[in-house]
Amino acid sequence: MIHVIPAHQGRPSDDPIFALNKEATTRKARGESIVNASVGSLLLDDGRLAILPTAARAVHEVTAEEWAPYAPIAGAPEFLAAVAQDLFADEPEMRASAVAAATPGGSGALRHAIANYLEPGQAMLTTSFFWGPYQTLCDESDRKLATFSMFNADGKLDTAALDKALTEQIAGQKRVLLFINDPCQNPTGYSMKPDEWQAVVALLLAHAARAPHAPITLLVDTAYIAYAARPNPRAFLKELRPLLGHVGLAFAWSASKTFTHYGLRVGAIVACVPDAKERACTEAAFSYSCRGTWSNCSRGGMRAITRLLTDPVMAAASDNERDALKTLLGARVEAFNFAAKAKSLLYPRYEGGFFVTVFTDDAHGRALRMKEAGVFVVPAKGALRVALCSVASSDVPRLVDALAS
Ligand SMILES: Cc1ncc(COP(=O)(O)O)c(C=O)c1O
Repeated sequence: MIHVIPAHQGRPSDDPIFALNKEATTRKARGESIVNASVGSLLLDDGRLAILPTAARAVHEVTAEEWAPYAPIAGAPEFLAAVAQDLFADEPEMRASAVAAATPGGSGALRHAIANYLEPGQAMLTTSFFWGPYQTLCDESDRKLATFSMFNADGKLDTAALDKALTEQIAGQKRVLLFINDPCQNPTGYSMKPDEWQAVVALLLAHAARAPHAPITLLVDTAYIAYAARPNPRAFLKELRPLLGHVGLAFAWSASKTFTHYGLRVGAIVACVPDAKERACTEAAFSYSCRGTWSNCSRGGMRAITRLLTDPVMAAASDNERDALKTLLGARVEAFNFAAKAKSLLYPRYEGGFFVTVFTDDAHGRALRMKEAGVFVVPAKGALRVALCSVASSDVPRLVDALAS
């Protein structure tokens, strides 16, 4: 007899991306020449994990007395204030209305959003290309996931499809939770331009005005914000200002990529709630969710990240170190664009970030054949996700050849 409930009995035991990575690593260890473009972590050209030395130092300098005790349930207040300051340095209104809770990475923030902004059985909405664990998080919370076609014929965000999906969701479940991962979307690498954000905001406001009793919440997943190619990755926030007080606005913030400490599990959900009564209600709901899931986050992890965010010398040092990693990644992006254009690969505008997605038919068959030739990418519906973050610049031509063959 299987004691696990029937609904959970068919669940895959291994995350498919982690399984691919395991296979690539095993074959490489056996001496095969492998290009592993499946890993979602930034690797140096020699294959070692890129780690910001200042972030590593900050972690090591946290004392035992700071690691050992429990943290406050919703997170250390100075950590939450530092995260709000990091996101909203140029957005005083957003900062003044911010309410936050610490979460184990951005994943925890996504989990809290799904649990607190949707009723059980309802569906969140996101782009047709999305990070697979969004679905897992929904399954785990007894919520569903709906998508809208991400790109239109001009290769821009398909706001007509979003409009239609919003209409359907409001009619069907009288509530919307929209996840947008920007900049450097996983898996496409796409970063929205200001006019695309303006169009999304206009749509959300129009739907909110037409359906005043249907709560609409936008959650921006900022996991890759620190690696955006544009000079000010937070510039898009000003486009979101009109939402305040009309459409719910929340952010998933993560230290994983920003400080190259994926295993530290430090993140936060931050919501902008101008109304004081609603703010108190949101704060209590987030805090209750923390208690009802992981109880509280790593106190030492929060301490280290707070120091990296607030100590001017450490912040400047980690920014400089990260800039070097962005240059490394930028060289791979350039090599990819150069080779991929020559081979006429189809993929979205790609300026920077950990991943790019190549549109293709029979993605699973292609990924399998590429794997046989020693090149690992992640197949999805109609596309292959290519993690340039884990591929040395010198391997990019081989990777592109395999994608094109
Ligand atoms: C799109 C996206 N969102 C959120 C996350 C969350 O990562 P973490 O929980 O490590 O912060 C990831 C990690 O790969 C991601 O790719």
